[in-house]
Amino acid sequence: MLARAPGRVNLIGDHTDYTGGLVLPMAVDLATTVEGTAGGDQVRLTSENLEGPAVVPLDVAEPSAYQPAWARYVAGVVAVVRPARGFTGQVATTLPVGAGLSSSAALEVAVALALGFQGSALELALACQRAEQLASGVPCGVMDQLASAAGVAGHALLIDCTALTVTPVPIPEDVEVVVVPSGEVRQLAGSAYADRRAQCETAIAVIGPLTEATLEDVARVRDPVARARARHVVSENQRVRRMATALAEGDLETCGSLMAASHESLRTDFEVSTPRLDALVTELMATPGVYGARLTGAGFGGCVVALTMPGALGGGWPVRAVGGAQVEAS
Ligand code: GLA
Repeated sequence: MLARAPGRVNLIGDHTDYTGGLVLPMAVDLATTVEGTAGGDQVRLTSENLEGPAVVPLDVAEPSAYQPAWARYVAGVVAVVRPARGFTGQVATTLPVGAGLSSSAALEVAVALALGFQGSALELALACQRAEQLASGVPCGVMDQLASAAGVAGHALLIDCTALTVTPVPIPEDVEVVVVPSGEVRQLAGSAYADRRAQCETAIAVIGPLTEATLEDVARVRDPVARARARHVVSENQRVRRMATALAEGDLETCGSLMAASHESLRTDFEVSTPRLDALVTELMATPGVYGARLTGAGFGGCVVALTMPGALGGGWPVRAVGGAQVEAS
């Protein structure tokens, strides 16, 4: 059995998925594979890149208690998928771990497929989102797992996180998507992510679903922190919609300005940027041939995504949009 799952980069729409908003990620040509044989009463995986075997019994109860840390994601998947048989195999990945390209989502999706998960891409993503929550304790949204499961070659994915629909948006040929690592390892497991989600809930309790709210509604939120968080979400949902249209039309200047505005909103209203990410975005925005740049994913470190003319940047990782996770041999 060989299962492969890609990582993702999000072009725009961060901290919107867990309030049912819009996101525009793409699956990238960096991936995790799980290869092995079914059988036995435990899941045992080794990895060239990661320390120690992950050994998880089929009746796992507390996924977050496993060691080494990556075994928690394996345990989370076992806890949700509940395979009838165990599995012995190896994990290999070309995804940098902790860089903000959803290496954990790719691991979960590849493990679920290797364990024989049957269902649609959406069902696979929802199962793996649950696995991630059990493993990490972070109340994450569905974007990362759904981008990995439902990727489309040459396309970004406009995902409506309320309707759970995925609309592929073609990426023009004459543009490059470049991931630029900040060098700061992101710690999503911190409480900051959960705090942000709770602050959004505070705003929702006052004005209802942020997907339907206007900026005038947001102004009615008394608590200044909740108001700022909601202002980011409502404006970001609008930017995602406009970006999907601009990208499909090949209007790259507009795409670039929307990305810059998204970063600014994540920096000021959502407060998930860092001085290093801000400096990187400023530097990239001033580089000839760069349409736009912004932090991507949860923030607090990780990486920046830039939309550029081909070859405009010397560094970073140019990524291509690829198809979603699949079983490649069984
Ligand atoms: C992490 C989470 C996602 C999403 C992003 C921010 O990657 O796993 O669900 O919330 O942060 O957009």
